[in-house]
Amino acid sequence: MIIASNFKTNHTRNSTYAYLATLQEFITKKDSKQDIYIFPPSTALDGFTLSSQIHVGVQNAYPVEKGSFTGEIGLEQINEFGLNTILIGHSERRHILGESQALCAKKFDYFKEQDFEIVYCIGEPLEVREKGIDEVMAYNLKQLEGIDLSYDKLIVAYEPVWAIGTGVSASVQQIEETLGKLHQKVKAPLLYGGSVNVSSVKEILEIEHCEGVLVGTASWDVDSFCQMIEIADSI
Ligand code: 13P
Repeated sequence: MIIASNFKTNHTRNSTYAYLATLQEFITKKDSKQDIYIFPPSTALDGFTLSSQIHVGVQNAYPVEKGSFTGEIGLEQINEFGLNTILIGHSERRHILGESQALCAKKFDYFKEQDFEIVYCIGEPLEVREKGIDEVMAYNLKQLEGIDLSYDKLIVAYEPVWAIGTGVSASVQQIEETLGKLHQKVKAPLLYGGSVNVSSVKEILEIEHCEGVLVGTASWDVDSFCQMIEIADSI
């Protein structure tokens, strides 16, 4: 399974090093078989020496090698560290930073060209969820517009906006129904994200078509993240 942590705007360079050292030690000691993804902030990126099942990726980048895009990083900065995994379309970038579907698709195309592993996020806001599953699916499928769903390094993370950072995860039934319908269109591995924690991770990982989780808040503490990995190992 895929167990992923999005640090968002948390952790420093020092604490990221300490986190990864603890994580590596845990994975080795437990001989865990999970695929682990870690997305630190860009100030903490580096050429880490980790076992191959731990993938470090960037939370965002501009679809360009280099240039005049103040505040952004491009391919040249990512390549310096030999990283080739990226998160695209996170709801915080779409809704807080105003990233359009066209820009998400442009980023996808660019990093697909570079053969990156892409964790592509989709998810509906509360007012759409309240209208029912047909509206939810229409909204989520729109966020897949322009995305090559046959790309073999694509992972899709379903993260309902209303469940992110709220402490209220979508219910097992809601996740099951949504992932089931997404699976009819998307053959890439599907993840769920939105207030996943140590208590809920088992029932979520057991949902049909759920191949992993993308965790924010509950993953920032390395011991809690390791506990989730251990739970995944027990399934
Ligand atoms: P939380 O786990 O804090 O809800 O965040 C989920 C998320 O946005 C992961 O990308």
